[in-house]
Amino acid sequence: MYTLVFATNNQHKVDEIQSLVGNDFKIIPLKEAGITIDIPEPHDNLKDNAAEKARTIHALTQKNCFSEDTGLEIDFLKGAPGVKSARYAGEHRDFQANIDKVLHELNNTTNRVARFRTVICLIWENKEYYFEGLCSGTITTEMHGEKGFGYDPIFIPTGSTKSFATMTMEEKNIFSHRQKAVTQLFTFLKGL
Ligand code: IMP
Repeated sequence: MYTLVFATNNQHKVDEIQSLVGNDFKIIPLKEAGITIDIPEPHDNLKDNAAEKARTIHALTQKNCFSEDTGLEIDFLKGAPGVKSARYAGEHRDFQANIDKVLHELNNTTNRVARFRTVICLIWENKEYYFEGLCSGTITTEMHGEKGFGYDPIFIPTGSTKSFATMTMEEKNIFSHRQKAVTQLFTFLKGL
């Protein structure tokens, strides 16, 4: 079994990805790798943030690792919150405050088209590789469901009538941006 350090402190993301890759790879989250830093995300685009996270962790561990950065892009908000999704309502990174802000900003529009975009940066044997996954959908007018994290209660993926937060992890993985990027990542690794 290969091990791969995943540059995140978000256990939801770890669980989603581990459930996708099964037993071929063991995903090691930062805490398990003994790293407790909050990795910076200073850039104005997902790719550079993903690169920064992977390079930071690679420098610390010297191990094969990957990172991902995800944003919710809402058409009516000209692509916002985008790369600022985690901190949309402030530096405290509060999921509920972020949702409240989005719902408030979309209050008077029927254009609720949005998508999640995930960019993964893999550092494997000292080389960098990138993968991207998209999930199109719509923003609801109210919150639905308790599962998942982030904007899951207000996002319905195209092809479903349910919000991500009402789905099991396996159901979310059928549609999700992260699943699409991760599938490319592991297809690539298995082909090496
Ligand atoms: P990050 O910077 O990649 O951790 O993600 C930025 C923010 O996007 C997170 O804090 C969440 O609010 C949101 N986000 C990322 N992935 C998802 C998801 O799968 N569902 C809902 N929200 C997500």
